[in-house]
Amino acid sequence: MNKILVIGGGGREHAICAALKKSPKPLTLYCAPGNGGISQIAECFPSVKATDIDGAVDLAKRIGADYVFVAPDDPLTLGMVDAMEAAGIKAFGARKNAAVIEGSKSFSKALMKKYNIPTAEYAEFDSESIESALNYIKTQNKYPAVIKCDGLALGKGVIIAKDFAQAETAVKDILLNGKFGVSGKKIIIEEYMTGPEVTVLAFSDGQTVVPMVSATDHKRALDDDKGLNTGGMGAIAPTPYYTKQWENECLEKIIRPTINAMRAEGRAFKGVLYFQIMLTDNGARVIEYNCRFGDPEAQTVLPLLKTDLFDIMTAVIEERLDGIKIEFSKEYSACVVMASGGYPENYNTGFEIKGLEKVSDAIIYSSGTKTRGEELITAGGRVLSVTALGETLDKAIEKAYTEIGKISFEGGFYRKDIGKKAQNYVRA
Ligand code: AMP
Ligand code: GLY
Repeated sequence: MNKILVIGGGGREHAICAALKKSPKPLTLYCAPGNGGISQIAECFPSVKATDIDGAVDLAKRIGADYVFVAPDDPLTLGMVDAMEAAGIKAFGARKNAAVIEGSKSFSKALMKKYNIPTAEYAEFDSESIESALNYIKTQNKYPAVIKCDGLALGKGVIIAKDFAQAETAVKDILLNGKFGVSGKKIIIEEYMTGPEVTVLAFSDGQTVVPMVSATDHKRALDDDKGLNTGGMGAIAPTPYYTKQWENECLEKIIRPTINAMRAEGRAFKGVLYFQIMLTDNGARVIEYNCRFGDPEAQTVLPLLKTDLFDIMTAVIEERLDGIKIEFSKEYSACVVMASGGYPENYNTGFEIKGLEKVSDAIIYSSGTKTRGEELITAGGRVLSVTALGETLDKAIEKAYTEIGKISFEGGFYRKDIGKKAQNYVRA
């Protein structure tokens, strides 16, 4: 019996647990902290937070975990995989020296520059060089200007400034007023790019890299990309923008070169590398890297995975990914996230989630839920997501909306236009 401990407690971790659960191999699943939905398929440990490295290592030892799957960015950048390995436990995920590809934009931009991986032109500044930063913006005189915090900032550390005044405010907020704490000790100012955005997740054991089907996330809270940035309100896969031609270009110019660059730097990337790419008129360019599965991209892409995730996990850990064939279904997938009223700002929790039993033709993943007796109640901003598969993108989207329409909780909302731009693109 293989014992696997999954670290994290969102929809992504629910999707990872569900994919592992499908394995024909005998295995027992544990999850820390987990959530209400995950507790139906894995034993959860709500008191062990995802960032608690020592707590997670102790837990892994206590339950006798054979494998630990570290899913979120925080524990990866803090070095949880290294800590597990030091304790003699096999762990899936990027080591600290590789997770920096997400943890520091200063690092990732320099890496791309050094290895000629296409990305937006940029310059880097810190609190000593505020004047130079403002001069740079003035000299460039190109708006919008993109200003990014160096470190992790819960997806909020990117400011698209429409004019000099906005850019100046952003630079000062970050470097002078410390709006993003240590994440904003350095900033990147970069060229604004346009084009469809795609996410390509890829498994890598440091040497071999196997991309998964592409996806497109929807980051804004409201329809028509209005409202605030969120963790992601829904996604579709595969994304119609990502034609065979783009796929080849990205593989040759971005995906393989990045894995090779990380190895050359002595930072072999093992785990899932997330490429956020913009398909511009001047070719595919990296927007950013993440050192992990995305959320809700995991809930969208993993249901299409035909190969046993357990086999992939062990092959990555043991650096023999070239020995297995990874296959995806030819279907389309659509995932719609249902969130608490007010998310991503203030919201209330503790409401009963109704109608789950009526969902018949889709998968429900819990993000922020808890159990209260027999019921599932809301416990976070993003509460759950519903993923439906279909022979066409239209069918997958339609089904996802039919099924999510059966679920309700006080204040709950979801975007009504997940995948719509992509559908229009196909029709045009
Ligand atoms: P990030 O946190 O880096 O994923 O950025 C958040 C969003 O900002 C991305 O999804 C893009 O839509 C946008 N963005 C980031 N960098 C650029 C850029 N250089 N040009 C245009 N849009 C950008
Ligand atoms: N959905 C975007 C992310 O996981 O970073």
